Amino acid sequence: MKVVLTESADAGAELVAERILTALRAKPELVLGLATGSTPLGVYARLRAACARGEASFKHVRTFNLDEYLDLPAEHPQSYRHFMREHLFDGLDMPREHAFFPPTEGNDLLRRCQAYEDRIVAEGGIDIQLLGMGRNGHIGFNEPTSSLRSRTRIKTLDERTLKDNARFYAEGEPQPVLAVTMGIGTILDARKILLQVTGAKKAKAVQEVVEGPVSSFFPASALQLHPRVEAFVDPPAAALLRMRDYYATTRGYELKLDAEGRL
Ligand code: F6R
Repeated sequence: MKVVLTESADAGAELVAERILTALRAKPELVLGLATGSTPLGVYARLRAACARGEASFKHVRTFNLDEYLDLPAEHPQSYRHFMREHLFDGLDMPREHAFFPPTEGNDLLRRCQAYEDRIVAEGGIDIQLLGMGRNGHIGFNEPTSSLRSRTRIKTLDERTLKDNARFYAEGEPQPVLAVTMGIGTILDARKILLQVTGAKKAKAVQEVVEGPVSSFFPASALQLHPRVEAFVDPPAAALLRMRDYYATTRGYELKLDAEGRL
């Protein structure tokens, strides 16, 4: 895992957006894996701005979101489909039918979770997977003890995740406790992974995930098994890292396409 210490959360967002825009210029039909939550907001604002300035086009891009709450309608303000429209898709020139979400409504979810996986493969696989991380080390909604080879499926949310997300619900409003999420195995199939982590409350998880053992107890530690991960960490989130001096001296590298146009 390449740890990139950034001066601030905003500087991290700038680098992540730059990586995506560089890859998009090289491959207009890029397949992106996307996250929700507060972490990617700075990245999404930059992608929208690049599109508005005519510097980037998402017309041929396909996107696959990591997760969505079970049985929450798409119009619900807390649904991730709503979040993505509001924070990204409404500002892009990408056709709406290019945006895919895990199945969370209706019947036959098990089969449709497999269909979601199949669709990712049919679109050529995810070129760049964008990730945030929960303070319990979750990626997507792969909560601690998730199988490191898991695929898209229903997960029960951890108490800490529910608490962290309670701020989005009015008092007394029911908060979903189940979600459908890409698995850790699904995430690890992406060609390149960009993880962004900000804030002091994630410092312990960052230390475990980057410098601790691979363990389902800190699901993001599975990223150590992937050959092309960059982790963009702001100073409060990096506070407990033991090898900060080393990370500060390592050089960045650019995304390059191979002869077949793959990342
Ligand atoms: C949501 C997702 C989650 C978040 C994580 C961090 O799609 O994938 O794993 O990335 O819960 O959330 P924030 O960014 O709000 O701290």
